[in-house]
Amino acid sequence: MTENRDTGFDTAALEAGRLLFAKECEFVAGVAAEAQLPPARLPEIAVLGRSNVGKSSLLNALTGRRALARVSITPGRTQQLNFFELDRRLVLVDMPGYGYNAAGKAKAAAWTRLIDRYLAGRATLKRVLLLIDARHGTKPVDHEWMKRLDKAAQSYQIVLTKIDKVPASDRDSAIAEIATAVSRHPAAHPVLLATSAETGEGVAELCATLAELAAP
Ligand code: GTP
Ligand code: MG
Repeated sequence: MTENRDTGFDTAALEAGRLLFAKECEFVAGVAAEAQLPPARLPEIAVLGRSNVGKSSLLNALTGRRALARVSITPGRTQQLNFFELDRRLVLVDMPGYGYNAAGKAKAAAWTRLIDRYLAGRATLKRVLLLIDARHGTKPVDHEWMKRLDKAAQSYQIVLTKIDKVPASDRDSAIAEIATAVSRHPAAHPVLLATSAETGEGVAELCATLAELAAP
């Protein structure tokens, strides 16, 4: 596992990412049931992770919009699969969080089913970004989802969030610990990106990574 400080994104890749994510990003669909899924046309990136980990905030940071995806202090803000289309080249999917959810057990169970079906059956899904709070590391529920993705042979990449909240002195050990925990999952991408929606750290690298997966 390598983190963004060592991955050596070249200038051209960073520029391609910057250009793509400077383009118009439009809300396409809010999906609460499988039957409502929009047609699968473009490469898709889905953002998955525990409630409150910072999925919606990271999408806002990527697209440079403060309120593209709804954010809140209360876990359970995102209540459906929200599809955003970027420059007719890439679709970004914000999803409800798993784990503890203030929206209630019944709703959380329904979302889990919907996310499961979506992840298993979406031919255009290029990569899942699985977000982990850099302060808290991986929890059993994260490993459950990683196992599901391993089993489905779905490519996924770990993205650490809220790295601004980790004191500089703890940073290396926090990242190393998470990298070790993830390394036993065969389908996980080897590059681990540390990000902050607050300071923008790691966001350009993530844009570059995603631009490589976009349609030409
Ligand atoms: P659900 O939709 O409920 O699953 O949550 P989510 O994963 O979309 O999290 P959301 O983006 O709503 O953020 C949750 C809280 O974390 C908000 O108060 C954000 O402001 C805060 N937050 C998100 N990312 C960061 C970050 O990089 N740094 C800091 N300091 N706070 C963050
Ligand atoms: Mg959200």
